[in-house]
Amino acid sequence: MASTQPSTLIVLILVLTTAAQIAAANDPIPAPWPHQFHALMFMNYSGDLSMIDLWYDWTNGRNFNIIQEQLGGITYDLEWNNGTSFFYTLDHSKSCRSAQLQVGILRPNWLDGAKYLGQKHVNGFLCNVWEKVDFIWYYEDVATKRPVQWIFYTGREAHVMTYEVGAVLEDEKWQAPVYCFDKAKKKKKSLSIEGALREFKGYKEKAAL
Ligand SMILES: *[C@@H]1O[C@H](CO)[C@@H](O)[C@H](O)[C@H]1NC(C)=O
Ligand SMILES: *[C@@H]1O[C@H](CO)[C@@H](O)[C@H](O)[C@H]1NC(C)=O
Repeated sequence: MASTQPSTLIVLILVLTTAAQIAAANDPIPAPWPHQFHALMFMNYSGDLSMIDLWYDWTNGRNFNIIQEQLGGITYDLEWNNGTSFFYTLDHSKSCRSAQLQVGILRPNWLDGAKYLGQKHVNGFLCNVWEKVDFIWYYEDVATKRPVQWIFYTGREAHVMTYEVGAVLEDEKWQAPVYCFDKAKKKKKSLSIEGALREFKGYKEKAAL
């Protein structure tokens, strides 16, 4: 009996290892983002609530987050695939900040390589859940493959309220205001929220290394 135990253990380990490999090979993968979509998102960052109008437009190399703070102002976070981004308001303060990042907007397949964590019920949807480099937890509806929510490592939550595949914002809405290009009158004052998707910027910089 004593002599059979080690071999039983080895067989058990082999069976479990093989099972784990088969499971990994069969794990679902997140649907790539459609090349163009519009989503309305309810955001919660430790109780600070906002709504984001997200226009993802890979085809034209641009991404727009229009951020409405609860009972507050609207800020516009516009990114181009050449790495230029503008962060501005359209109110009397005429604030604008621009930045030059090393990388462009998120690629449609930016979730490739995410680690599958299994299924979970969230907000009434059965979701597949993935984690990407300790940076984001991504929840996708099992039935429709639409994103339901994602949560950043900072605790910021994005809940997807509408998801219109193929919707595109008109070209003229993508024009940053003239004061974004006015170097002489550059505002020192920085905008308070600094991009509701700033985590993505950090992620992209990490991914570009
Ligand atoms: C926002 O998130 C906090 C936890 O960070 C939670 O206590 C609160 O209930 C959430 N608010 C809403 C409206 O979901
Ligand atoms: C990137 O593209 C935008 C929009 O066409 C433009 O305003 C910006 O100057 C460009 N940036 C660079 C570094 O070429």
